[in-house]
Amino acid sequence: MKKTISIAIDGPAAAGKSTVAKIVADRLGYIYIDTGAMYRAITFEAIRRGVELNSHSALEDVLKTVKVDLRLAEDNTQHVFINDEDITEPIRTHEVTNSVSIVAKHKNVREAMVARQQSMAANGGVVMDGRDIGTHVLPNAEVKVFLLASVEERAIRRHNENIKKGFDSNLENLKEEIAKRDKLDSEREIAPLKKAEDAIEIDTTSLTIVEVVEKIMNLVTERAL
Ligand code: CDP
Ligand code: CDP
Repeated sequence: MKKTISIAIDGPAAAGKSTVAKIVADRLGYIYIDTGAMYRAITFEAIRRGVELNSHSALEDVLKTVKVDLRLAEDNTQHVFINDEDITEPIRTHEVTNSVSIVAKHKNVREAMVARQQSMAANGGVVMDGRDIGTHVLPNAEVKVFLLASVEERAIRRHNENIKKGFDSNLENLKEEIAKRDKLDSEREIAPLKKAEDAIEIDTTSLTIVEVVEKIMNLVTERAL
């Protein structure tokens, strides 16, 4: 019988993590855990309360009074909740996207989120995506993947997504925002965005989603037998 494993997928913004993580989780019947959505949820709540995003103690108050949950809706899409309020849509706003790296660098925020993520993954059978999954959250994951793509390609992907959704979009601004977030995420002191030593790097710049999924499924087959 195949064993149930944990799969860690890390990488910078718009590298394709969540898209491929969901497909891999579906194929394996595993749970998909979007850790970025959890940092976005805390950021959304901090902005809503009007607290200073650089203040460790203000964020501590937010952390003490919220419970972040990820739940599957009937249509099999993942929804994000804060104290039972569905905040799936508002965590994707420009304002949250451009502030999340500031909130995510705080020690108290990371400790709270990592504890929650580890308890969700305690029984294995998970595909978790983020920035520090292979290095910190699931250091013993059987499969670790680090997805990359050029900043240009990642900005084009987000731009196309925005246009498809009917949102305003400016490619140059997106490029700048992505590069800025990459820098903040890679240079922060605690659990920065970094490839784990034992992670397999996949440059997705010129790969389709299907090709990336196949590469990961091959790794799963190798490790899970
Ligand atoms: O989907 P996108 O790549 O835009 O970002 P995300 O996965 O939703 O993550 C949003 C932000 O949360 C990142 O830019 C990081 O600042 C933070 N994050 C983190 O610090 N650690 C993680 N494991 C996941 C996300
Ligand atoms: O989760 P992350 O921010 O890393 O990226 P994503 O939201 O999964 O993917 C960003 C966009 O790139 C989505 O619209 C995907 O459909 C697209 N994508 C792609 O065009 N080619 C790939 N190899 C992977 C993703």
